[in-house]
Amino acid sequence: MSRIAYVNGRYRPWRDATVHVEDRGYQFADGVYEVCEVRGGRMVDERRHMARLERSLGELRIAMPMSPAALGIVMRETIRRNRVENGIVYLQVSRGVARRDHAFPLPGTAPAVVVTARALDSVGNEATAEKGIAVVTLPDNRWARVDIKTIALLPNVLAKQAAREQGAREAWFVDRDGKVTEGSSSNAWIVTGDGKVATRAADTAILRGITRDVLIGAIAAEGLTFEERPFTVADALAAREAFLTSASQIVMPIVRIDGKPVGDGKPGPVARALREAFRRHAQVA
Ligand code: PDD
Repeated sequence: MSRIAYVNGRYRPWRDATVHVEDRGYQFADGVYEVCEVRGGRMVDERRHMARLERSLGELRIAMPMSPAALGIVMRETIRRNRVENGIVYLQVSRGVARRDHAFPLPGTAPAVVVTARALDSVGNEATAEKGIAVVTLPDNRWARVDIKTIALLPNVLAKQAAREQGAREAWFVDRDGKVTEGSSSNAWIVTGDGKVATRAADTAILRGITRDVLIGAIAAEGLTFEERPFTVADALAAREAFLTSASQIVMPIVRIDGKPVGDGKPGPVARALREAFRRHAQVA
């Protein structure tokens, strides 16, 4: 089946889905994005993703290209036209097209909008969750505002590639104090020796994941104790369990860090239960 992308007001066949050479997203990574899970053809946690998009745009002083409701319609239509049942929908907004100059273009320059959708292998994803994944750790060399979901992802790209080359699925960034910040495209969690489910506070050093936020509610509902605190790689290796969260991977158990086993080296009961619980707590519309 041929894919369709929404590009600046039009639904275009894949081969024609192009942006201008002077799009500021292309030249300066001057833009933001969102990735929403699609389940049963419907968007998961749309309202929260839209709120985060508005915040990211606000922080960069890029105008909302249209209302959240209108963006929702475009995203749903892109999902429908690509016949995505289970997968992701991707939304990108850049500061628009203008002659290359680092400073902002003239007021009134329209932000550029791209939406794509694609199916993910949910069976493969479940099989991966059954086995758990490996992560490697790297120094966090990103800028100081990674709370904004910008398309400037070069450190994340290099980190993910480093993970791949070492046979791992994700890279965890570690700050100067030896604390894990987050993954290259996910938030980082542990289950401590006394059974608390811990993740770092959502300050400017991590992206505040929508999956993270929803899971915090699910943890309480499951009768587990949540603790918002930073942890080191040593803490994670001494933990009962470790896992990551993201819109595309939900709750993914981590069984090895830098080649060393976490807990008994198998996915643990808490990550397993929370993966199920997330499904019940996420809002599908
Ligand atoms: N990544 N941290 C980073 C750096 C991320 O890129 C992501 C998401 C998350 C988790 O956020 P959420 O739970 O809202 O997906 C945390 C998306 C999926 C991506 O870049 O593809």
